Amino acid sequence: LPVRSREIHLTRYPAGPVSERHFTLAMVDVPRPQHGEVLVRNTFTSVDPALRIRMAPLAPAGYFPAFPLHQALDGIMTVGVVVDSRTARFAVGDAVWHRFGWREYAIVRADDAGLGGLGALTRLDTARAPVQAYLGPLGGMGLTAWAGLFEIAGLRDGDIVWVSAAAGAVGSLAAQFAKLRGHRVIGSAGSDTKVRYLREELRLDAAFSHRAAPIAAQLAAAAPNGIDVYFDNVGGDHLEVALGALRPGGRVALCGAISEYERPGHGAGPHNLFSAIANELTLRGFRGSSHVRLLEPMQEQVSAWLGSGALHYRESITEGLEHAPRALVAMLGGETLGKTLVRIAE
Ligand SMILES: NC(=O)c1ccc[n+]([C@@H]2O[C@H](COP(=O)([O-])OP(=O)(O)OC[C@H]3O[C@@H](n4cnc5c(N)ncnc54)[C@H](OP(=O)(O)O)[C@@H]3O)[C@@H](O)[C@H]2O)c1
Repeated sequence: LPVRSREIHLTRYPAGPVSERHFTLAMVDVPRPQHGEVLVRNTFTSVDPALRIRMAPLAPAGYFPAFPLHQALDGIMTVGVVVDSRTARFAVGDAVWHRFGWREYAIVRADDAGLGGLGALTRLDTARAPVQAYLGPLGGMGLTAWAGLFEIAGLRDGDIVWVSAAAGAVGSLAAQFAKLRGHRVIGSAGSDTKVRYLREELRLDAAFSHRAAPIAAQLAAAAPNGIDVYFDNVGGDHLEVALGALRPGGRVALCGAISEYERPGHGAGPHNLFSAIANELTLRGFRGSSHVRLLEPMQEQVSAWLGSGALHYRESITEGLEHAPRALVAMLGGETLGKTLVRIAE
């Protein structure tokens, strides 16, 4: 018999800020898996800024495709348990990740290619960490922070590092990875509570709120002689400030530009790009999912850091698939701390 499953559909594309009104909860019949497929009961699904980029008739050229309307949203990392299997590669009871999130049940091909390299159906070692950690430090978030810092920014001894959105999923990891490698790290975030978290729990060398006072002055107070690496999660005004603060040979890992995602037509570029010429800076964009070959070394190091208590990790969990849109709005608005997740089932 087919399984009844709830899933979230986008019903129209937001022209400005996304709200719960842009979504609907649909009920569908999910068939039995066919040869080479499994049926997964999803337990946790990810809530990512990238979802907002794809909620438009056309996603930016070269990026993951836009979400079609009136269909289950696709390409969202999710963890769950195999409840029916028609392949020798996965057994009932296996904990897995895959890319068919924001729904209760998913049919997944054992040889599904994933999305941009990440998210192929994969068995997870739940002895190493709770399953949802694979949506955070042991998954795409860890991979993005790792690749951005070590590959893209090419972190070198003595580099002073600024990480924006540092209380978020990727930022909190990037900031701590740099700290654990012995760097001076400055973090910025959007509230006093988050700044306290950065100072007291993540033990960053300095932290400030981008809402409290001008960013440039606060960064200059934290790094009077400038910075060498900027891990950019925000773009816009933050990137402009970084360009003004980077020392010769400085590097920017362009990870995200969340300040632009809800702006129709996106924002203007930084007015001070000439600093990149003057100071021979490198600005390099990247997608964590293009660096899956780093997944295993990252997971090995990060699970050791988690196990020893050296790495701190927070989650903001929304209960119930029906509230996934609300969780997205909250995350984009800066109301969540650490990795934003939705618990779909126990
Ligand atoms: N390149 C990749 O492969 C890749 C992969 C994953 C994520 N990303 C990017 O990395 C960034 C962080 O993603 P995440 O999943 O870790 O999300 P997150 O940081 O957990 O959540 C997003 C945070 O961004 C901050 N924010 C929102 N609007 C802002 C604005 N106008 N100015 C400054 N900060 C703002 C908010 O925190 P505050 O309260 O601190 O303002 C919010 O909590 C995003 O840009 C995302 O697109 C890139």
